[in-house]
Amino acid sequence: MFTQSAHLYDAIYELRHNFAAEAARLHDVIEQRMLVGRRTLLDVACGTGAHLPHLGRYYVVEGLDLDAGMLAVARERNPTVPLHRGDMVTFDLGRRFDAVVCLGSSIGYAKTVSRLHQTLANLSRHVVDGGMVIVEPWFPPETWEVGRLTADLVDRPDLKNARVLVSSLEGTLSVLDIHYLVATHEGVERFSERHELGLFTHDEYLAAFEAALLDVTHDPEGLIGRGLYVGTRRSESPRRSAGAVKRSPAPSSLPPGATSPPDSRLSRSPSAFGDGPSASTPLRVDAHPLPAWPPLPVCR
Ligand SMILES: C[S@@+](CC[C@H](N)C(=O)[O-])C[C@H]1O[C@@H](n2cnc3c(N)ncnc32)[C@H](O)[C@@H]1O
Repeated sequence: MFTQSAHLYDAIYELRHNFAAEAARLHDVIEQRMLVGRRTLLDVACGTGAHLPHLGRYYVVEGLDLDAGMLAVARERNPTVPLHRGDMVTFDLGRRFDAVVCLGSSIGYAKTVSRLHQTLANLSRHVVDGGMVIVEPWFPPETWEVGRLTADLVDRPDLKNARVLVSSLEGTLSVLDIHYLVATHEGVERFSERHELGLFTHDEYLAAFEAALLDVTHDPEGLIGRGLYVGTRRSESPRRSAGAVKRSPAPSSLPPGATSPPDSRLSRSPSAFGDGPSASTPLRVDAHPLPAWPPLPVCR
């Protein structure tokens, strides 16, 4: 976890992420298939809340994360946004949102297939029928490179930071032993953190979505080339037969007049920020009570 490095996260990740562009792309994905007028969004494992100011252009946003240090940074950046501390596997906010997203490969921290299913069930339980669950995955096992060297170097006047790691594998877990060497005006510190993330297969993601009452499509490119799983929640009855994975978009959630993308790959039209409501646009926020838990899947 980022227990010791929360204060460095933004300096490192801003080097290789454009959070504004990612939020705009996500908005495109949501807009293509969600009913007009649906406007509440929960960012699960929001970290330092870097996507929230941009998603806040389009939605009434809230965030959730397990790590208090990450949430502290998120609160500084998003002082008016409700931010909750909780575990994505088990949290219970007692209400539903129009969209729930889990970005930045945070889903990998579920670690096991069983917890992946529990997490998807929990995310699904927090969206309205016809609402969306969107997950940016971690690497599948076949693309994980053991022994790969990674370095992120921050070179600012007020901060010099080297973050290096050698990727490894323990069973089905990708392991990142991350070493930091940090210089600020207060001095130099060094420390390390161990991160363990589950390497779930494409089929395991699809099965977890399906078991969580989510019709799922997969965009292989996604926000930054890691792909994106996009689920639309169907109502609990009548139940679809187990294992029936729907790979094409769910047209039932599209607004009247909209057409569904031609195949399971989502269209990637860019979107400008100006499309969304301005900060002063009043947004209707509906309170949606939570449905009962979907039955937990039997996992291998
Ligand atoms: C790589 S960061 C991604 C943060 C953010 N979504 C982004 O894209 O910048 C992973 C985040 O997942 C959070 N996390 C890990 N396990 C979690 C769990 N079980 N429940 C909630 N958050 C978790 C970490 O605290 C961290 O903030």
